[in-house]
Amino acid sequence: MFSVPRRPAFSLPGRPITPPSVHAHRREFLRQLGFVGAGLLAHLGAAATPPAPATAAGPALYPAKRNPEFNPTLTLTPETDATTYNNFYEFSTTKDRVHKLVDRFHTDPWTLWIGGLCEKPMTVDLRELLPQFPLEERVYRFRCVEAWSMVVPWTGFPLARLLEKVEPKSSARFVRFQTALRPDEMPGIARLPDYPWPYTEGLRIEEAMHPLVLVATGLYGKPLPKQDGAPIRIVVPWKYGYKSIKSIVKIELVKDQPSTLWESLAPNEYPFESNVNPAVPHPRWSQATERDLATGRRIPTLPYNGYADQVAKLYAR
Ligand code: MTE
Repeated sequence: MFSVPRRPAFSLPGRPITPPSVHAHRREFLRQLGFVGAGLLAHLGAAATPPAPATAAGPALYPAKRNPEFNPTLTLTPETDATTYNNFYEFSTTKDRVHKLVDRFHTDPWTLWIGGLCEKPMTVDLRELLPQFPLEERVYRFRCVEAWSMVVPWTGFPLARLLEKVEPKSSARFVRFQTALRPDEMPGIARLPDYPWPYTEGLRIEEAMHPLVLVATGLYGKPLPKQDGAPIRIVVPWKYGYKSIKSIVKIELVKDQPSTLWESLAPNEYPFESNVNPAVPHPRWSQATERDLATGRRIPTLPYNGYADQVAKLYAR
């Protein structure tokens, strides 16, 4: 039987992973803007708490109010785990290197294209788009296909609200998502030249419209860090983590099931549907348990990652 390593690499059979050389020029431009604003307001006596840094998602939107409907009793994974242990192959295949390699990645301004089979396609800058959606915080379980998991508070709004804006046509049966492709800013791309970049993912339209699917713009009450998919990603909590695509530039409504990066690389290991299921092992390891990032303990994996009551009906045969 395949034994699950402590932190198994999300990889392809027979494909060696080469860690990239470190290159990190820290640019804290946006953060500084936030500090400047906070300093000035404090001086004027106008703000007790400094506003969050200005970002594409707008200044001072964080923290958003937590929605108590979602997992209020779960213990959160420490923020540093979620922001320093990342899968973002455009930067690095080494999880604790990703956050050191994101400084050159520009996330503001950010143009998002939403189109395809819809009545009102749009090309819009996030500064204009995001203020149209009230933000809320939701605590979700997050389960990677590599059998580690965490519990994190995302800030965002339901993807359904965004898709409604473009008025999908009845012929739209799937939604295709695409990540930015900027080799000059994303050093991991050149290191994996045989990958079918850009990173793409997809959902059935009924899945995409499910109220649990979140467009995330923040994490732990702050704008999303670049390593976690700034400025905009989705979170699909009942599916393995690779469905939760980061740094999205395109959302397309399509008729046929789109091909996705991981499915095209290894369809038997990373299929399109990818619902969390402890009863179906990955071809190279068990999915019955998962390693809790915070404690290091192995805990049972739940069907649909604990969201069966909400989503199992999507898959009733
Ligand atoms: N999105 C892009 N564009 N590139 C990636 O490599 N990795 C996926 C997903 N989204 C990935 C991505 C995988 S495998 C996981 S587990 C999650 O992002 C990790 O999200 P996190 O780093 O915020 O925990």
